[in-house]
Amino acid sequence: MIRIPYLVTSLAGALCFTSAVTSALAEPAVDAARARQIATQHACFGCHAVDKKLVGPAWRDVAARYAGKPGAAATLAAHIQNGSSGGWGAVPMPPNALSAGDAQTVAQWILAGSKTD
Ligand code: HEC
Repeated sequence: MIRIPYLVTSLAGALCFTSAVTSALAEPAVDAARARQIATQHACFGCHAVDKKLVGPAWRDVAARYAGKPGAAATLAAHIQNGSSGGWGAVPMPPNALSAGDAQTVAQWILAGSKTD
């Protein structure tokens, strides 16, 4: 059981770091197909594109802004779920009705560059 002491050690650290480690253990790669499916289902593409600004910022720009920031996936997942304002301009993003897990999947995919494969 290598995972138990590893997780206990992680739990002693910052919460966002812990969730990053545990989700990395559960799911080593970003599931791009699933992330795109979620984004399509929740009409994200009505306001967003990967490489250009529409109503909301281009997801490539979001990835660039948050690159290397600790807890970025958790922050973005919360903004996706609850909505956000004041980060990119005058127009706020309304809350989106998706699960925390789905928000996390899409956030990780956006941070990884919104790749299609
Ligand atoms: C009605 C239009 C609209 C929809 C639908 C929408 N967004 Fe947004 N989104 C925006 C706007 C506008 C912003 C910029 C908000 C701000 O300035 O803080 C934004 C910001 C974001 C950001 C950056 C947040 C940050 O903290 O910098 C992410 C990531 C994002 N949206 C993902 C999504 C995802 C995923 C979905 C679908 C579940 C979605 N958006 C649906 C309009 C939308």
